[in-house]
Amino acid sequence: MTTAHEPQVSEAQISVHWREEDYYQPPAKFIGQANAADPEIFRRFAEERFPDCFKEYADLLSWDSYWHTTLDTSNPPFWKWFAGGRLNACYNCVDRHLAADRSKAALIWVPEPEAEDTRTITYQELHRQVNEFASLLREFCGVRPGDRVTFHLPMVPELPVAMLACARLGVIHSEVFGGFSGTACGERIADSGSRVLVTMDGYYRNGQLVDHKTKADEAVRTAAERGQPVDSVLVWRRHADRCSSQAAMVDGRDFFVDELLTEHRGAVVTPVSMPSEAPLFLMYTSGTTARPKGCQHSTGGYLSYVAGTSKYYQDIHPEDTYWCCADIGWITGHSYIVYGPLALGTTSVIYEGSPTHPDPGRVWRIAERLGVNIFHTAPTTIRMLRKLGPDEPGKYDYHLKHMTTVGEPIEPEVWRWYHDVAGKGEAVVVDTWWQTENGGFLGSTLPALQPMKPGSCGPGVLGVYPVIYDEDGNTVEAGSGSAGNICIRNPWPGIFQTIWGQPERFRQIYYEKYCRNPDSTDWRDWPYFAGDGAVQAADGYFRILGRVDDVINVAGHRLGTKELESASLTVGEVAEAAAVPVVDELRGRAVEMYVALKPGLAPSAETEHAVSDAIEREIGKIARPKNVWIVSDMPKTRSGKIMRRVIAGISNFADVGDVSTLANPEVVEEIRHHIQSDK
Ligand code: WTA
Repeated sequence: MTTAHEPQVSEAQISVHWREEDYYQPPAKFIGQANAADPEIFRRFAEERFPDCFKEYADLLSWDSYWHTTLDTSNPPFWKWFAGGRLNACYNCVDRHLAADRSKAALIWVPEPEAEDTRTITYQELHRQVNEFASLLREFCGVRPGDRVTFHLPMVPELPVAMLACARLGVIHSEVFGGFSGTACGERIADSGSRVLVTMDGYYRNGQLVDHKTKADEAVRTAAERGQPVDSVLVWRRHADRCSSQAAMVDGRDFFVDELLTEHRGAVVTPVSMPSEAPLFLMYTSGTTARPKGCQHSTGGYLSYVAGTSKYYQDIHPEDTYWCCADIGWITGHSYIVYGPLALGTTSVIYEGSPTHPDPGRVWRIAERLGVNIFHTAPTTIRMLRKLGPDEPGKYDYHLKHMTTVGEPIEPEVWRWYHDVAGKGEAVVVDTWWQTENGGFLGSTLPALQPMKPGSCGPGVLGVYPVIYDEDGNTVEAGSGSAGNICIRNPWPGIFQTIWGQPERFRQIYYEKYCRNPDSTDWRDWPYFAGDGAVQAADGYFRILGRVDDVINVAGHRLGTKELESASLTVGEVAEAAAVPVVDELRGRAVEMYVALKPGLAPSAETEHAVSDAIEREIGKIARPKNVWIVSDMPKTRSGKIMRRVIAGISNFADVGDVSTLANPEVVEEIRHHIQSDK
């Protein structure tokens, strides 16, 4: 049966356009202490200074040997930043802070349940743990520089410890978001060619114990089916008394980390000096096919970029207590919980659980107790906190100087609650637009120097030049009111190097659309296609409308419609499936699945549940659709392609456009009646 994927519908098409808002000025107190408070910085990063302007970011790091070429463009679009330089990312995030700050907190971990003790890990302690785990990986697992190691860990300090241990060895880590299913983890293990999986027995979420180790067995099985054997599964033990992992350990394959570590107590591992261009990690994300893309990030360029943007856009000073409540399993956590803040030697808070459990005051209680002064989260969390606890912030004595929103468009009224109520009107707010592929921010206001405008992320960040193109590559002028595809005219140090194992796909997805001359080695001929729709106001600020491809961003999690559809098709009764985005009050977007059954089968609630369960099994709980609609037929073109645009129109109570060319126009009314009477 066909699930041909055109014509498509995208998030940007169902986007709600809000009107231009007024500016908000940063508080004087913030400006007085900001890392970037002198407009002279715009001159240092002026376009004619590209690419050398980014030396300023690289100089925040300690290099073993300096680079000879700031940007090597000889093999486009595989840009090489700081070519010839050598460094170690773990040394930069840990060792170099020991001399002055060994007893300072590097990480503060707030676990769930909240009653459990908060754990403070000093730089000295972090150094010890990282060295011991690095020794274990090297001696016991035999990993070498360039090998890949997969983690499937929740929000525990063992995750940054494992990341930094790999970085110390020059080993490429690949963390799979803890909430993903074992099958999804196994696919990523196979794609990256990892022989080692690091996991944990279990953890609590919303008061429920998640027996996490069982997912590892599924992951190893899936990887084996795809031809990738896993030799060792390393299991951190946290709830030994409550999880079934004790019984389920596979002899010779599964090992408890605490038992292995006894051999490595006090071990010291010399950081391996890596070329700037050596890959630091892979981060998988969804795309237009069912196969996830392993975004490969570099060591020197990436670390420079997250350090620089953490300094100027997060305004991190070493004495701040900085809290980003993203999950480390996503790029935001890698860049702005672990690598950026630790490179700058600050204190980074990690918390486990959900922001509204056991009550919607949890976040503000933590901010008060730990003295958090920089806070970073996503619109979905802000919407939830606003809905469930609109007055909670006023009950707690905390004071933020800086707040970030990231990952989804934020509605102006939600932005205002964040600024006025959550931030008590005291903090500057930055709306940061970027992607897994980008390493760090692309669009934002420079907090002390550019005013905020609710609903807009702002202009391109320092040294980054976004532009909006129409389908033919013509520039859509700022202030024209027209939407188009947002692209970046130039490379920047945080840009990913390639899709792991798929260089051709990398080039095709991100660069082919607007490449001016495939033979050129001039970066100006290779604009980066971001895959988002946007409009630019006359002041140069961008409003991001959402994805223009087959990706749906649910609560800040990127889901590929192809992956959702393939998962649905694993249900025996299902003949065809289509995933479409719908506007959702809390999560920004949600997914609705439309399925048609094989001939002769009657719709049933069981089949609807089976589709949701299949999606949870293949991808994870976060991907469960808002609704599964069983329809008698899909609207199709005469050549048999499913018209997702029409389905999305019906789902969103919007205009479905011209349907006269459909092979079966009568189903439109039928589906509309079925759906809308039930919604
Ligand atoms: C969306 C998250 C509006 C966008 C860092 C992008 C945003 C996708 C914003 C990447 C923002 C991210 N305003 N939309 N400030 N930030 N997005 O890879 O559609 O998980 O393409 O990276 O999120 O999601 P990803």
